[in-house]
Amino acid sequence: MAERQDVSDFRQTVIEGLASSSRCRHLTAGLLARTADWAVARHAKPGPALKAAKRKLHQVFGAYAVKLDSLEHHLDALEAGDETHAVCRRILRLHHSTAERLSFVESFHATIWNHCGTPRHILDLAAGLNAFSLPFSGLDPAVCYTAIEIDRRMVDAVSRFLAVTHRPGGCLWHDVLDGIPPANADVALVLKTLPCLERQKPGAAVDLMHRLEDIPDIVVSYPVRSLGGVRKNMPQTYRAQAQALAAASGRDITFLDLNQEIVAVLSHH
Ligand SMILES: C[S@@+](CC[C@H](N)C(=O)[O-])C[C@H]1O[C@@H](n2cnc3c(N)ncnc32)[C@H](O)[C@@H]1O
Repeated sequence: MAERQDVSDFRQTVIEGLASSSRCRHLTAGLLARTADWAVARHAKPGPALKAAKRKLHQVFGAYAVKLDSLEHHLDALEAGDETHAVCRRILRLHHSTAERLSFVESFHATIWNHCGTPRHILDLAAGLNAFSLPFSGLDPAVCYTAIEIDRRMVDAVSRFLAVTHRPGGCLWHDVLDGIPPANADVALVLKTLPCLERQKPGAAVDLMHRLEDIPDIVVSYPVRSLGGVRKNMPQTYRAQAQALAAASGRDITFLDLNQEIVAVLSHH
């Protein structure tokens, strides 16, 4: 009994250490608890366990969002009347994934919507700051947009952006590995995120496809090079992963014609 109490105190110490860390406190409580469990199973003392848990979270989440501290300042400027496209460009640069896409953001959207048709409702999973690309999408602002993201800072910024620009939808602070709230969307976006989800939980990509069963088109994408700029065999590897995912979820796959990002649409037959 005393030993069980010790383990739960130990786990609680790690969770509290993560929740008070400036790098981790924006992530959901469920993710912090899961990471604490992982660390407690591998370390005998709270100090090393907390260090290992922080390192793991930083490996998975730290690399993308570089300068999120300025988000509020940019949104204040938007509310004060600064031109929407200019503010959105500045914000898209703050996250590695959207910064990489900025030079072709219009053709990125146009290629996707030419293939899928105009959506009524987009569900964007592990969305980062992608909402700020909507003004470049060519879509009517009345198209509903629901995003899910695990980092509270981005959730708050996207929610505020949607409200200020009167776009229907919202952004949920949620871990996509804990399930997908019903959204009644006709397109799901899973952009540059599947490798990150697989690192958190092997098998997560196929599970996610099953959870999105009711959505006719799922757009998945992968980077063509790693964060360090190395190309390796990434395009071949990721194309093969997308094909395997389509087969596992019983969907047809179409690769879209974009050089800067591997984009595939998984559709029902
Ligand atoms: C590589 S970025 C891609 C962002 C966006 N989809 C894009 O392509 O612009 C991965 C994003 O997924 C978020 N994320 C990672 N794991 C998540 C999870 N389990 N649930 C929800 N969001 C998650 C991260 O915070 C990060 O913003």
